Amino acid sequence: MNKNEYKKAVEKLNLWAKHYYVLDDPITTDEVYDELYHEVVSYEEQNSKDILNDSPTQRVGDMISDGFTKEKHLSRMWSLEDIFDSDGLMKWLEKTYKLDKNISFYCEPKYDGASLDLLYENGELVKGITRGDGNIGELITQNVKTIKSIPLTIEHKDTIEIRGEVVIFKDEFEKINELRLQNNEALFANPRNAAAGSLRQLDSSITAARNLVFLPYGIGINSLPQKLLHDKMNYIYELGFRQPPERAVCKNIDEIESIYKQMVHDRDSYSMMLDGMVIKVDEISSQIDMAYTVKVPRWAVAYKFPAVEKITTVKNIVLQVGRTGAVTPVAIVEPTDIDGVVVERATLHNFDEIDRKDIRLRDKVIILRSGDVIPKIIKVLTHERTGKEKVYERPTKCPVCESELLDEGVLLKCQNLECEARVVNSIIYFASKPCLNIDGLGNKIVEQLFTSGFVKSVVDLFELDLEKLLTLDGFKEKKAQNLLDALDNARGSEYWRFINALGIEHIGEVASKTLADNFGFSFINATKEEIIACDGIGEEMADSVLEFVRVNALTIAKLQEILQPQEPPKKEEAKENPFKGKTAVLTGTMSQSRGVIKEMLESLGAKVSGSVSKKTDFLIYGEDAGSKYDKAVKLGVQTLTENEMRELLA
Ligand code: IVH
Repeated sequence: MNKNEYKKAVEKLNLWAKHYYVLDDPITTDEVYDELYHEVVSYEEQNSKDILNDSPTQRVGDMISDGFTKEKHLSRMWSLEDIFDSDGLMKWLEKTYKLDKNISFYCEPKYDGASLDLLYENGELVKGITRGDGNIGELITQNVKTIKSIPLTIEHKDTIEIRGEVVIFKDEFEKINELRLQNNEALFANPRNAAAGSLRQLDSSITAARNLVFLPYGIGINSLPQKLLHDKMNYIYELGFRQPPERAVCKNIDEIESIYKQMVHDRDSYSMMLDGMVIKVDEISSQIDMAYTVKVPRWAVAYKFPAVEKITTVKNIVLQVGRTGAVTPVAIVEPTDIDGVVVERATLHNFDEIDRKDIRLRDKVIILRSGDVIPKIIKVLTHERTGKEKVYERPTKCPVCESELLDEGVLLKCQNLECEARVVNSIIYFASKPCLNIDGLGNKIVEQLFTSGFVKSVVDLFELDLEKLLTLDGFKEKKAQNLLDALDNARGSEYWRFINALGIEHIGEVASKTLADNFGFSFINATKEEIIACDGIGEEMADSVLEFVRVNALTIAKLQEILQPQEPPKKEEAKENPFKGKTAVLTGTMSQSRGVIKEMLESLGAKVSGSVSKKTDFLIYGEDAGSKYDKAVKLGVQTLTENEMRELLA
């Protein structure tokens, strides 16, 4: 890097940082940022006289934006030095052991969210402050008070700053984006942006609706007596804060590497996104001795995980036709290794999303892969366009059967019931885990069975035999017999699986269970009123069931004869009692577990619901009843103690 390149790099880093911290809209990945940042650091190490004042290395932390009152932290919020591999770890440990030989290390996840400082005085939460530049942040107490995992009062009366990360769980993030997709709003790039953006809303009710979660990772000003960090943290958890999903005190490099490997292995299964593991010296006295450089503590380091966001190029956009005929666009991208998996496709959700993000062929984009969900494009790097990018034209014909598509605005639909894609996908769905769970009916095989002409519908599956299968490419005796056995095993399955496998629009696993439990085999004769009366089933779902049954009565009967599913035991009609047909909510501690009491009420013909609403008939409460009791009183719902409930039944 020469001086000119150095200047350009600083400019670039500052632009990236502004998009990241101020606009909550990153335009590159952490990985690319870190790489350039480290180049800048090594240039500055060799050319200290050239260091620019606005170099990001001269800055303590995040930027502060307008909109909220500024507030000084009682003690500074530090950031962490990053290491990326075993070599980095070894060097960091060497450095650290030189300062003190007799130390152990507290290892916990590095959460990917937004940092937050909580100030408690006299046991009360008095301030919530964003990290800001580490010294001064933004006062967002109102918003912070909406986060349910942050206790408003604690059993600790001395002044204490509790620090942690605010995150959005991965499933919640998917839900928020699903809703935004339905409402035609721009999607959040990733859970971290969603958390940071939600935290800094001027309207607290928006923050409240986002289900943010606070995970403590440290303490600022405090008078805690514990001599070890992990004891201090245990004390914090006891005050009512959430614990990390995994943590360990390690004595040496092998133990550190081993818990690191464990966390990398487990990261997909955690509710929250992690971007590394933080290693901290456990002995507080050693921490004090080691102290800080200008930027970071010497007693802690972030051991980063492999990145889950990468930059790649859109090579093509292809269309997938699902079993309902819905056409979904999928981006084919330059193959990219993300955390050990080569990603070649990314979902584009729907056609509006392509327009909104203005995704063009040959665009450079950031893709995110996390957990089991399909990788997605979270950002188009429009500032990197060369003019060669091509706008994608919305299709008018089904890419599989070429029939005219129905354009419903956001959704495009193939209406041809015999379209190969629709048939093949319904068969795959029929055989999938939450349906009849038939092994060996993956994409390739089903396509092969379809094109051979042996299987044109699910019913045909059960007419397969050895003779037919052995004519197919790649089928030897064993594979053919396995498939036949798997098909045979589908007989006698639970009835809800049977209903789910039919693939009725809007009817998923939960609704299938409800229908099976309420109607058994006679669900095909249920009326609209009866169906709507079921918990969790609305009008649109009921209409969908009725229409499906009307059109497919013969197929359903035939499948039922072939598959002989088990009918769930009929619920016996409960005798007359004050709870029959009523809705009850349980709260507080009772003489028996609430599950036992719930079962008893259900056997009396009552519905037991989790939350109080105008529709609730009874709130039955035990000791330490909380907000549900208050809400019931407010709504004028009849409240009963557990004893009063039992007296009514006696
Ligand atoms: S400790 C003095 N522990 O990472 C130590 N930070 O890169 C300061 N973070 O600003 C931080 N999980 O927002 C620490 N378990 C963890 C963390 C964590 C996430 C964030 C935090 C901090 C940033 C530093």
